[in-house]
Amino acid sequence: MRYTPRLRDHGLAHDPFKAIVAPRPIGWISSLDPDGRLNLAPYSFFNAVSNDPHIVMFSSFGEKDSVKNIEATGEFVCNLTTFDLREEMNTTSAAYPRGVSEAEEAGLAMAESAVVKPPRVRDAPTALECRLLKADRLAGLDGQWSGNIVVFGEVVSIYVDDRFIRDDRFDMAAARTIARCGYFDYAVVDGVFEIIRPKDPKVTG
Ligand SMILES: Cc1cc2nc3c(=O)[nH]c(=O)nc-3n(C[C@H](O)[C@H](O)[C@H](O)COP(=O)(O)O)c2cc1C
Repeated sequence: MRYTPRLRDHGLAHDPFKAIVAPRPIGWISSLDPDGRLNLAPYSFFNAVSNDPHIVMFSSFGEKDSVKNIEATGEFVCNLTTFDLREEMNTTSAAYPRGVSEAEEAGLAMAESAVVKPPRVRDAPTALECRLLKADRLAGLDGQWSGNIVVFGEVVSIYVDDRFIRDDRFDMAAARTIARCGYFDYAVVDGVFEIIRPKDPKVTG
């Protein structure tokens, strides 16, 4: 089959795009509003886009509370989600009124961050503390704002639970991080395999 995304002529019950570009890591974004009230929500349009410096992004469909808070305060934390925290993560995606703490609703304990004001999810295996670089209101080929806001942040401090450092590596299979697939599907990382790259003097790893 083949389809044209803007025509939505896939003929299926749902557009498979989000199942094609998958699995996507989930940035579980904590932020504070200008009055210091905590907000926590999962974003799977999330990824790292630069290794030097460390830069991450997430995309919000509309001006959600996370975006409003981050534009107001300039700071956020991307917590990683795990199989053990999957229900809590899902609870925090509910549309609570602004100012209601999703973390509290999900019964989640938070812990102080090292550098930024928003706290991290205490039991998340790792958390990236970020400062806002820019929030881009993304236009499509038609030049119109798509309704998406892409938030870029530089990572200024990284927390990793010592339990998941093994042989000098972050052991994501031990942490059992989860990722979003299409529909209501998720994948869990419980194994990895290694492929050594062909020798290339330009490749530094
Ligand atoms: C696993 C998962 C991934 C999600 N990814 C996104 C996303 O990438 N972008 C988005 O706008 N909403 C996404 N959502 C929905 C938001 O989490 C939801 O709209 C939430 O209420 C936004 O919270 P906020 O207004 O406090 O920022 C996702 C939900 C789940 C459960």
